[in-house]
Amino acid sequence: MNVESKVIGKPISRVDGRLKTTGTARYAADNRLAEDRQLHGVLVKSSIASGRITGFDLSAAQSMPGFVRFLSHLDGGLIRRIKNPADGTFAAGEEYTPFDRDQVHFVGQHIGLVLAQTLEVAEAAAKAVVVNYEASTAKTEFDDPDAEVRQPSLYNTGEELQVSRGDVEAGLVQATHVVNATYTTPIEHHNPIEPSATLAVWNEDQVTVYDATQGSVNDKNYVAFGMSVDPENVRVLNPFIGGGFGCKGFTWPHTLIAAAAARAVNQPVLLVLSRKDMYTSCGHRPHTEQEVTLAANADGVLTATRHLTHSYRSPVGDHVEPCGVTTVMLYQCDNLEVSHNIRVLNRPSGTPLRSPGEAPGTFALESAMDELAENLGMDPVDLRRRNHTEIDQRNGRKWSSKHLLECYDRGAEKIGWGRRKAPGQWRDGNDLVGLGMATSCYPGYRMPAQTRLTLDRDGTLHVGVAVQDIGTGLYTVLAQMVAERFGTSPENVRVLIGDSDLPPGPLAGGSMTTASVAAAVDDGCRALSEKLRARLVDMGHTPGNEPLVIDGGALQSGPLSVPAAEVMPTDVHEIVAEGGSDDTYGFTGGVETDKSFYSFGAIFAEVRIDRDFGIIRVPKMTGVFDVGRVINAKTARSQMLGGMTFGIGMALMEETFIDDKTGRFVNPSLGEYYVPVNADVNEFDVEMLDIPDYDFNPFGARGLGEISNVGASAAIANAVYNASGIRVRHLPIRLDDLLKDLPR
Ligand code: MOS
Repeated sequence: MNVESKVIGKPISRVDGRLKTTGTARYAADNRLAEDRQLHGVLVKSSIASGRITGFDLSAAQSMPGFVRFLSHLDGGLIRRIKNPADGTFAAGEEYTPFDRDQVHFVGQHIGLVLAQTLEVAEAAAKAVVVNYEASTAKTEFDDPDAEVRQPSLYNTGEELQVSRGDVEAGLVQATHVVNATYTTPIEHHNPIEPSATLAVWNEDQVTVYDATQGSVNDKNYVAFGMSVDPENVRVLNPFIGGGFGCKGFTWPHTLIAAAAARAVNQPVLLVLSRKDMYTSCGHRPHTEQEVTLAANADGVLTATRHLTHSYRSPVGDHVEPCGVTTVMLYQCDNLEVSHNIRVLNRPSGTPLRSPGEAPGTFALESAMDELAENLGMDPVDLRRRNHTEIDQRNGRKWSSKHLLECYDRGAEKIGWGRRKAPGQWRDGNDLVGLGMATSCYPGYRMPAQTRLTLDRDGTLHVGVAVQDIGTGLYTVLAQMVAERFGTSPENVRVLIGDSDLPPGPLAGGSMTTASVAAAVDDGCRALSEKLRARLVDMGHTPGNEPLVIDGGALQSGPLSVPAAEVMPTDVHEIVAEGGSDDTYGFTGGVETDKSFYSFGAIFAEVRIDRDFGIIRVPKMTGVFDVGRVINAKTARSQMLGGMTFGIGMALMEETFIDDKTGRFVNPSLGEYYVPVNADVNEFDVEMLDIPDYDFNPFGARGLGEISNVGASAAIANAVYNASGIRVRHLPIRLDDLLKDLPR
């Protein structure tokens, strides 16, 4: 099914690789103004979880040489009050207005900003600001009986959060085998290498914002709203981003604070969040407790499914961890109940993090499937095959393209599934060895995007769209798509992204950028091609009907070859065309279609557990994915390696501890929040089926990245069970979960 192409699907190295490896690529905080004109900002954050600010004592801070200004709610009207919820032109990380009132909702809330000539003075002065509070009773404990519990009806994608179909009680009666268990996942933080940072530079009533953001257009609209200026007067630049994983997806208060401060003092302001700031300023994945019931008849056919999620949100951030959304669609089951119960706590706000909902949700669902297979005496892969569906269980539609059964087959073969033994039975020297697997899936999302295609006199093509490469390879993928359409090499294409002045595109979230720009690139190339063809005809040429080729500095069509410079009058330096697509898929209000768009995969893990020390290692993971057509085999594979690495982190390491009594995060640093390093990651075997999905967009790509994190933690947890016979229903799984009961 592979489509032959000179550039699509090829493992082309990143076109921005040299800039990055030589330190030439400039990230938001790398920008400095001439003569160091920018002031440095450091945030003052609330140390209480609930209450009022009654005043600040600035005497010590103000006496420091280099101190410039302190800003807070007392300055009044710095930032326009945002409507609640946001007005629809932007997505805000939090729904409160910074520096608006004296009220405190959580520990770490931004309550003031110190501006100073140097970062060192700003840091010292921020520490020296004394804040007086009138504290009120805070609800910080997960089980606080007084916490308000909400049952939100929709996730931010429009997905239903409270779903009931058929009759679960009747399904339980039909069943011969039932498993029921509660699975928990911890608070997790994104921890991108590059912390969030904003440099705001005003020129009269126009502001340029250098921002570490996954969405320059969203950022522009939010800053425009908050600063009460026209969106045309805001330019957001984000040519390079050092990872985001969700925490730079929506715009957070610090960006508005930097813009407001720069305007207040009429001087550029650079605000770089510290690693500790990052833990409370731009979201996290909230802790979840998920009660899952799976019931099946003796053949392993599911007769009832119940997935009840309990989690929390902050008073001012509406993120819900949508754990049950996958359960609604994945397996054939007529009787189902999915709910999300969300407590409102005085804790920092959550936000999407690396497959929000899908990752913790499939830990629970796919662990429960493993337990059910055990209970039935059935092979875990067979149980999944038995409940496979060709119909999206949410809406009764057919999938646009689904090859999950092939993923199971390939994955099982590649990991050597046949080697698997009964729990605790496989020994190799001092190690217990086990294999586990899980189904993986992720929605196909697509958002509107516009593109500008330009041909210059040298015959170089340029493509511009306000999207961003958060490290995933988009620069390269865009060059490949344009090269494909004009029969040329990616080296003949210059890619312009990371600038909100370009034609608008979506934020880099939901693994959707490639699929979104695909249609826009296709349309832009068509528009440019038509323009050039008309120009050739005007010049008296007769180009053929086949697509125009632009290569070697010339426009080519069959035997015809005309230098690019010749199709332009002498005073014209480029020919420009615009194209795009307004279509939305996968979100509410999208294109009316009778298809459902989803990517699927199967993840297999081998683990080894040291019998004396309980140390868990993952010598091998195999992931086989059906993600539509792969545009770049190298960057796509890197995405999958990253996602599977997140899976190891989620399964075995990552956890943010909270002090329940005070609502404070206890380990807000990379020294105490563990993520996988090279030594933790061994053999990864990644395969993509590479079957184009032309119902989704003209390049057939469904987008990828997050999918490889979905199911990964369950595959490891199931392998831990298979190796040890010990079922751990919480993440991360640590040696102390195993030591006491390890088979000797
Ligand atoms: Mo992602 S968590 O969709 O930025």
